[in-house]
Amino acid sequence: MSGGGESGGQKPQPLWVAGVLLATAAFLVLGPLAFRSPVGEPAAVADWVTDTTPVRSPAMAPLFKTRVYTFKCSECHKVLPSPPETLRTLTQHTDIKLQHGINTRCFNCHHPKNRDAFIDDLGDEIPWDQPQLVCAKCHGPVYRDWQHGSHGRSNGYWDAEQGEQTRRKCIECHDPHHPPFQRMQPAPGPSTLRMGPQDVASDDHSHNPLMISQQSNDDRAGNGESEGGH
Ligand code: HEC
Ligand code: HEC
Ligand code: HEC
Ligand code: HEC
Repeated sequence: MSGGGESGGQKPQPLWVAGVLLATAAFLVLGPLAFRSPVGEPAAVADWVTDTTPVRSPAMAPLFKTRVYTFKCSECHKVLPSPPETLRTLTQHTDIKLQHGINTRCFNCHHPKNRDAFIDDLGDEIPWDQPQLVCAKCHGPVYRDWQHGSHGRSNGYWDAEQGEQTRRKCIECHDPHHPPFQRMQPAPGPSTLRMGPQDVASDDHSHNPLMISQQSNDDRAGNGESEGGH
């Protein structure tokens, strides 16, 4: 075993080795076998996926539209003093079905005296075009996240020196009277190697135990499915 090798000059290599190498090189250069990529075609990105139009477009003004006329809220309400309690079946605004968890009183948000404004915790007015301050009364942490840009959405420029940045208001995404966010159609996933077709549609549960949307999604079962998300 030890030191048993030949010490003399190298044996001449047979000529066929060179032959095989040359043939292999020629085969590789000519490449008669076409390359077949295991990665599929890239998924097409439809226009709705990158559409930045908000889900809702509230007027941001205290206007009440009937088929013919548009009133300011106060036009009726300054002549109609409101009773202090709103937990009754209303004869007006019957289209509004308040489904906001235990937040069941109109005057938690609307000002009882001036209907063109919302109400803050001290009973003072919040201007109609600042509805996020209404939400902030009860959703402090989400409001803080929204202020810092990690909830909701910012459009425009990150660097404020380059151009304007706009922060979407809460009610451009959430209906204040029925706030759970409508279910969205997921965008197609990327077709990466060996990922296979993705079945996102069958996973219809939110795993967040804090969300009332779980109950109300069941109520609206199937409803949000066809909704094109934005
Ligand atoms: C055409 C007249 C009219 C207009 C305009 C109007 N309301 Fe009303 N609203 C009423 C009447 C009448 C009631 C009371 C219904 C009842 O007691 O059954 C009412 C009730 C309400 C209530 C329940 C508390 C209360 O005052 O009794 C809220 C909140 C409310 N309106 C908000 C608004 C807001 C916000 C606007 C504007 C976007 C508006 N209303 C515009 C007629 C109007
Ligand atoms: C969580 C706060 C909140 C509560 C509670 C609430 N509202 Fe509103 N309401 C808003 C906000 C914010 C707007 C304006 C944004 C919009 O129109 O989407 C609004 C808009 C309205 C409007 C005008 C737009 C429309 O949908 O016709 C009426 C009328 C109205 N509310 C009546 C009521 C009545 C009646 C109640 C009680 C049954 C009530 N609201 C409870 C926050 C609230
Ligand atoms: C008076 C307090 C109060 C105000 C004001 C208020 N909320 Fe709420 N909100 C609640 C309560 C209570 C719940 C229910 C929490 C639960 O049952 O899990 C809730 C739930 C929600 C949810 C969760 C729904 C889900 O998917 O489970 C959203 C979104 C929401 N509110 C948005 C808003 C927005 C937007 C505004 C401002 C227009 C607002 N809220 C104003 C008390 C409030
Ligand atoms: C660009 C759209 C958008 C805006 C703007 C927005 N939200 Fe949301 N919000 C969402 C989505 C999407 C969810 C998640 C819904 C889900 O998971 O089903 C959500 C979830 C929530 C929830 C329930 C879950 C949680 O994290 O507690 C609350 C409460 C809420 N938003 C409040 C607000 C408030 C208050 C504002 C404004 C300060 C706001 N949102 C602005 C889109 C938005």
